[in-house]
Amino acid sequence: MCGIIGYCGPLDAQKVLIDGLTQLEYRGYDSAGIALFDENSNIHFIKKVGKVAALKKVCEASPISSHCGIGHTRWATHGGVTSENAHPHMYGHITMIHNGIIENYQELTEAFHLKGKLLSQTDTEVSAAVLNELYKGDPLSAIRGLLSHLKGSYAFCIMFDDRPGEIYAVRNVSPLVAAYTGSGAMIASDLTALLPYSKKYFVVPEGKIIRLTAYQVSVFDICGNREAPDYMEASWNTDAAMKNGFPHYMLKEIHEQPEVLKQTVLPRLKNGLPDFTAEGIPDSMLKSVTEIRIIACGTAMHAGMVARSIIEPGLRIPVTVSIASEFRYEEPMITQNTLTIVISQSGETIDTLAALRLAASCHSPVISVVNVKGSTIARESDYVIYTHGGPEIAVASTKAYTVQIAALYLLFCRMALVRGLYTDEQARQFTSTLLKCSDTMEAMIGRKDLIREAVSHICDSPNAFFIGRGMDYAFSLEGALKLKEISYIHSEAYAAGELKHGTIALITDLVPVIAIATQKNILAKTISNIREVKARGAFVILLITEQTKTDDDLADLVIRIPETDDKFTVFPIAVVLQLIAYYTSVQKGLDVDQPRNLAKSVTVE
Ligand code: G6P
Repeated sequence: MCGIIGYCGPLDAQKVLIDGLTQLEYRGYDSAGIALFDENSNIHFIKKVGKVAALKKVCEASPISSHCGIGHTRWATHGGVTSENAHPHMYGHITMIHNGIIENYQELTEAFHLKGKLLSQTDTEVSAAVLNELYKGDPLSAIRGLLSHLKGSYAFCIMFDDRPGEIYAVRNVSPLVAAYTGSGAMIASDLTALLPYSKKYFVVPEGKIIRLTAYQVSVFDICGNREAPDYMEASWNTDAAMKNGFPHYMLKEIHEQPEVLKQTVLPRLKNGLPDFTAEGIPDSMLKSVTEIRIIACGTAMHAGMVARSIIEPGLRIPVTVSIASEFRYEEPMITQNTLTIVISQSGETIDTLAALRLAASCHSPVISVVNVKGSTIARESDYVIYTHGGPEIAVASTKAYTVQIAALYLLFCRMALVRGLYTDEQARQFTSTLLKCSDTMEAMIGRKDLIREAVSHICDSPNAFFIGRGMDYAFSLEGALKLKEISYIHSEAYAAGELKHGTIALITDLVPVIAIATQKNILAKTISNIREVKARGAFVILLITEQTKTDDDLADLVIRIPETDDKFTVFPIAVVLQLIAYYTSVQKGLDVDQPRNLAKSVTVE
């Protein structure tokens, strides 16, 4: 949450910052601002409520010649969406941007007698004021002093008004990556902002202080000793974070799914069998664990629910899926025999990270399924299965979901193999079907027109329901989340059999119900539930496989997915649900990629 960028170098700093903020905007877009040293070493601020485009317009109208500056795009936590609360914040010598939450900002306000002296309601301005109190001309020592007062998570970029051409940065939990590129020094909340300049970067180590100048990026430990940064190489292409001709990132990312599924699965197949030697995951551990805890947030949690539907019946061991923000407070029973699987596209979601730390403290082996290389969750897990989805920019997650499921399916298959539940032949059959899901997704992308037709029956409705049983219920949860987050239609997912215990009271004439019925073992029961809503006047859009026979009067519109093994229907169904949400949002004229109030990377609790 909140995007941070800093730049020192020969390029036009104002342009570099605005371009970087545009790349980072999915992290929050309530307001945006930049601060720049001009050629006379004076600091200039520009802040605007709203999106980066509004800031860009003002900047273009009055360009500032600068080679050093910091920029921020905000997702409001402390204080409303106003220009006073927009970053950067200035206090005395200090100009600061921040991502995170300072939990003890009220105590600090009192301890440093700041009441009545602050212009904003933010915890960031309090931090700037404390730093200003501590600053006696030595940035490193003042920052060290500040850290000793702070409780909470933070990534700060700081400029001192008497140190032109320098940017200082420090972080705890909240992400920051930095690089010395061919054209200057850069720091940002995530890699997408650095990619146009450099594929080599390093993750800013927690508690270390970074100094950027036009000539270098230096890392200092807490005693002020220099350290060599640990550079890594990004595997993403520069244009992977571009729209490449698609009107929205979301549509582009939906289209990428057939390809990224293969990229995630193929490198982990040896003779057709799943293999996690490269990840160092020991078969002995996969064999001996007696239960599995899957923990994640949002769409990643829904991916976990799909995986659970095959793992527990397939391995005959208990599997639970927890919402990460709840997990910590449930006082969960975890032992060294519990395998913890955390799932996160960004690898930075703070609740997921906290859950991981709790599980690790109970000596549970932790496998993370993560998209962003070198992210905090990846680094803190015992083992990482990277999904090779490439950068996901649209706030509504699409390709991350299907590659997370693909990675979890592979892990399941390996576990079934080493536990003697699958023969080699069965495992090969499983992985071959998984790879073919690339084609079933492609087929549904090709049926866009039918899906658009369905959308015309949803668009004007204030409510929509998604129903299904078993795995189909897990898919429904994701379908409802996708629709509500980008169309603002109130959408609920219900286990179809549970409707009659209350929710069916909400079904009236023309309420759209998206019914998913791909699981053969419970098809007859699901169909009875569909009849129940149809009998109450619902407009039923039915999602079933090609060869499933249905009566003509069961649904108002039928979307058929290619026939496939029940375990794999999630892939084509996901495409249908994503496209339903996408076209609804487009038809309503909404901001598909950056829906209101949301942010892609949730780094506050
Ligand atoms: C936010 C995003 C979702 C995502 C969730 C978990 O809510 O908008 O798309 O599923 O966070 O994020 P993670 O990066 O941990 O997968």
